Amino acid sequence: MSALDDALERPFAGYAYAYPHKTAYRAMEPRPLADVWAAEDRSRLFAYVHVPFCTMRCGFCNLFTVARAGDVGGAYVDAVLRQIEATARALPDARFARVAVGGGTPTYLAATDLERLFRGLADGFGAPVARLPSSVECSPETADEERLEVLARWNVRRLSMGVQSFHDHEVRRLGRLQRRAEVLEVVQRARRLGFPRLNLDLIYGIEGQTPASFLESVDAAIGLEAEEVYLYPLYVRPLTGLGRRAHRSGDHDALRLALYEAGRGRLLEGGYHQRSMRSFHRLAPGAEGDPPYRCQDDGMVGLGSGARSYTRELHYSFDYAVGRSETQAILDAYVGRGEAAFGQVAHGFPMSGPEARRRFVIQSLLDGEGLDRAAYRARFGTVVDEDLPQLAELRGRPWVDGAEADDPLLRLRPEGWRYSDALGPWLYSAAVHEAMGEWEPR
Ligand SMILES: C[S@@+](CC[C@H](N)C(=O)[O-])C[C@H]1O[C@@H](n2cnc3c(N)ncnc32)[C@H](O)[C@@H]1O
Ligand code: SF4
Repeated sequence: MSALDDALERPFAGYAYAYPHKTAYRAMEPRPLADVWAAEDRSRLFAYVHVPFCTMRCGFCNLFTVARAGDVGGAYVDAVLRQIEATARALPDARFARVAVGGGTPTYLAATDLERLFRGLADGFGAPVARLPSSVECSPETADEERLEVLARWNVRRLSMGVQSFHDHEVRRLGRLQRRAEVLEVVQRARRLGFPRLNLDLIYGIEGQTPASFLESVDAAIGLEAEEVYLYPLYVRPLTGLGRRAHRSGDHDALRLALYEAGRGRLLEGGYHQRSMRSFHRLAPGAEGDPPYRCQDDGMVGLGSGARSYTRELHYSFDYAVGRSETQAILDAYVGRGEAAFGQVAHGFPMSGPEARRRFVIQSLLDGEGLDRAAYRARFGTVVDEDLPQLAELRGRPWVDGAEADDPLLRLRPEGWRYSDALGPWLYSAAVHEAMGEWEPR
């Protein structure tokens, strides 16, 4: 049995949404921001702002966020504005091609703080949300009229909301409080305010969820004419509410695969296109989507306590934790930082040549449009099948196209997306596996 066959035995080994995961980052000798970005193409960067607050901590969530933090949004936005100033000073010629605000829950911030944040991005950073492709996350209970109006005034193009399930009892089993009626109200509001792209997140693998109940949620999203739907397999992770209570169905690979196939099939019938294992979208006839974000190419400038930043040679962020007091301490340190401290990078992962190559392969195969061998060669000057001989194991798999070394494009067929969460970890380097394994959940 090959290593790939072994990996395929665990179809939900891990979600490779960014390689390497933050748990592989470590404290490092501080470096000035200007040096870190010196060799980078700064002409079409991605600005990402992370807002680490939520009304409550959902039982499945291990994102960097603090629940019920109280009235701290103002001080947090002040800190982000200082970080913007420090970053703008270090990268005076930075030009932005897109901007996103995620979390946590950006709409936890008061409307006036959202306004100040967008103003700061536009005036202090040259990243005007109103004129760039933009995406902002929200949750049903925070997406009120006042906040969504701010987003609409700033012409936010994509509004993304976590729904997880349209069945209130399933949502409760996820350790989340939200009612279907609330979700429907927000969708109506978003439509009235005219957001061109609405994304709804759904989760499958919830304890007690059946293919029929999951399909009802998928149908509800289709019925609301969401332009995008994300289907997330439930992962139960250490230190989360569900992790502590050992939520059962999260372990059932066969059930999760069946739910995935059912949900995917229903979305395809409903006229959606699949872009990756999780991402489905539909465009009005003749409409064009925003240019796809190619994280293999573009630098990302992260702002805020939980944000990552990517240059070709270094991925960096602030420290990461899941537990409440640890997260709060990292957040307090962030809010207490002066502008000078924001000019330094002190926590990250050096992207050596081999790691950058792996990242390119992982992102191209799982998020992108496939691995273009010529583009790889142009970027790295080497041959991908020689750099990563394990790719030969993909030959002869009926769910892969272009697996021969002389094929121009290696890509998953639509029926191959289901293996994404096995293929990602299969492609991680031993060093990244080791660093992630050494990370102590805290
Ligand atoms: C930042 S939240 C979305 C916005 C907002 N905070 C909310 O929850 O409504 C990110 C999304 O990732 C998904 N997600 C996070 N952790 C997950 C997990 N352990 N298993 C499955 N999906 C997860 C959820 O669908 C969630 O909506
Ligand atoms: S899923 Fe969303 S609302 Fe729930 S804790 Fe995570 S970031 Fe917050």
